[in-house]
Amino acid sequence: MSKGRILVTGASGFLGWNLLRAPWEDWEWIGCSNRYDPELPGLRLIQTDLTVPGAVVELLDAAKPDLVLHTAALTDLNACEADPAGTQQINTDVPATLARRCAERGLRFVFTSSDMVFDGIRPPYDEDSPPCPINAYGRQKAEAEAQVLAAHPGAAICRMPLMFGAAGPHAHNFLPEWIAKLAAGEPVALFTDEFRAPVSATVAREGLRIAIECHVSGVLHLGGKERLARYAFGALLCQVWGFDPGLLQPVTRSALNFTAARPADTFLDCRRAWALGYDAPPLEEQLRTLKAEGRIS
Ligand SMILES: NC(=O)c1ccc[n+]([C@@H]2O[C@H](COP(=O)([O-])OP(=O)(O)OC[C@H]3O[C@@H](n4cnc5c(N)ncnc54)[C@H](OP(=O)(O)O)[C@@H]3O)[C@@H](O)[C@H]2O)c1
Repeated sequence: MSKGRILVTGASGFLGWNLLRAPWEDWEWIGCSNRYDPELPGLRLIQTDLTVPGAVVELLDAAKPDLVLHTAALTDLNACEADPAGTQQINTDVPATLARRCAERGLRFVFTSSDMVFDGIRPPYDEDSPPCPINAYGRQKAEAEAQVLAAHPGAAICRMPLMFGAAGPHAHNFLPEWIAKLAAGEPVALFTDEFRAPVSATVAREGLRIAIECHVSGVLHLGGKERLARYAFGALLCQVWGFDPGLLQPVTRSALNFTAARPADTFLDCRRAWALGYDAPPLEEQLRTLKAEGRIS
């Protein structure tokens, strides 16, 4: 028997596509995307721009979910920095409206937030650490978290770390991009001074499953266990995929003039999630699993 119907927004995005390409079988699924069809056979999909007035209510009326897993967002840090007013709508106003409408209807709401709500100066950050964002995207996500919880106290806020894996036909991820370049013998410039604890989309998906199955409410950190710079991650990738590590070029953040400030180290304390059964295997193992799946060549 189905445990209920999950509506996943952001179905054409990196995380949404990864959730919907291998959905947990004991739930019924429906996807929502904006511009693109995620091209997943058998998926019931509603395409709508959630920033249009009335779109959230129309979506809930049409999808009739029991739970909304809201992953839709504008995730480009520099685009958010360049146009905070224009990007605030999708990153803050839409999750707040969705949470309010879900609360009115007695629906569960799970919101994917980000480690970017922290400044990166004093890691590790646990769920009680006060948000202290240093860029517009982080401020939008932190404000969304606060508004979601005010509108829907039973909502779950899952803070995700940097994620990697195969991306759907219309989504992007840094890992397939690195792999394509390295396979072509092209150099890849990677930070040595910015630390993250990444997880594969598979691990992230399992974390979200646990949050949902355990009826988590409030904030939950779903980070990885290994904190490393992208340069070190690139070296691990070369080892697993058999690329020449000499193609990796070490760079510092200051050398690449980004519009948005980037937190140096957003390591999340995930003890709350570990206690619920969430686990992040060693990164080398996650990469080997990904390679064996053969989705990224
Ligand atoms: N990827 C990461 O490493 C990472 C790290 C930390 C946190 N997160 C969080 O995880 C979540 C998923 O991120 P992601 O990387 O999967 O994002 P993504 O690949 O950029 O996908 C964004 C999704 O949002 C949809 N969307 C954007 N504007 C919309 C609108 N106006 N109406 C309806 N849908 C709209 C897009 O639809 P169309 O493409 O069809 O227009 C797309 O499906 C986000 O909440 C993000 O903040 C991600």
